[in-house]
Amino acid sequence: MRPRLLVLYYTQTGQLRQILDSIISGIADKADIDYAAIEPVKPFPFPWTPLQFFDVMPETVEHLPEPVKPLPTDILNKDYDLIIFGYQPWFLNPSQPITAFLQSDYAQVFKDKPVVTVIGSRNMWLHAQEMVKGYLQSVNAHLVGNIVLTDTNPNLVSLLTVIRWSFKGQKQASGMLPAAGVQDKDIYEAYRFGNTIYKHFLGNNLTDLQRELLAQGAVRLKPGLVILEQRGIKNFRFWAKFIRKKGGPGDPNRAKRVLLFKNLLLVMVFILSPLSSFTARIMQLIKRRTLLKDVDYFKQLGYEKGRI
Ligand SMILES: Cc1cc2nc3c(=O)[nH]c(=O)nc-3n(C[C@H](O)[C@H](O)[C@H](O)COP(=O)(O)O)c2cc1C
Repeated sequence: MRPRLLVLYYTQTGQLRQILDSIISGIADKADIDYAAIEPVKPFPFPWTPLQFFDVMPETVEHLPEPVKPLPTDILNKDYDLIIFGYQPWFLNPSQPITAFLQSDYAQVFKDKPVVTVIGSRNMWLHAQEMVKGYLQSVNAHLVGNIVLTDTNPNLVSLLTVIRWSFKGQKQASGMLPAAGVQDKDIYEAYRFGNTIYKHFLGNNLTDLQRELLAQGAVRLKPGLVILEQRGIKNFRFWAKFIRKKGGPGDPNRAKRVLLFKNLLLVMVFILSPLSSFTARIMQLIKRRTLLKDVDYFKQLGYEKGRI
């Protein structure tokens, strides 16, 4: 039986589409595959100015996204066996187009369907995935797998390269800095996951899919990330409220607060980050057991609301 697959995704720079193409490459001739890109009604800018970039934070964090275009009716009317759902985190939440899609009626495409999420991120994706799990549960989708590709360079290096990429549009290596984003080798090697999904689908054994994906390295997660995200999301929630008091997206009245947020975030990240990773290390030693449990939870597919 040829499985009918829907690959549903949003990508701004094309990175996520590359990841999905690689996953699908090994099974493209064995399945009927439709691709559907989620598109914002008004595309987000790329490269961004710093003000544009940080101005999307409040509505991303508060899940008040810009609208997306309708999904084609032939996609909505087709009965898929499995949906591969590719998305990226923005400010520790699903990107705005993804949230807009999940909040829309088009999310019914997921109803009663097995779903494999594929995340292409810098390295902070835990809270975003919890939000996606919640939305998927609310439309009665069945999350059967999760594959996460991150930039595996040290945190500060990936921050510098993502800044160069976002604000100059330059992905390739320059000076002492490597290329931005997920490493090419990791993208290429993601083809192995497609074969695993296919095998489990044919064997009617999707409940066991995540175990094998994990054995293949589909999710690599350091305990320190849990602490960093817990801290980050609290700060972002505070700043989102504070900025929105001055107006909605793009309102010049809130620009001062947006830029203040940007400057403080950069100070936190570049100056205080070595200190905060030191305290995070100590926390890791003190809370080792809880953190190991957390790591286990975030690698799996279960959903406990408010876990992070
Ligand atoms: C506005 C914005 C915020 C981002 N926030 C995060 C984040 O919180 N965590 C993370 O790991 N990556 C973050 N990224 C990187 C994206 O998740 C993603 O890897 C990158 O934008 C490329 O994705 P694309 O396929 O849409 O081009 C952010 C990117 C943008 C544009």
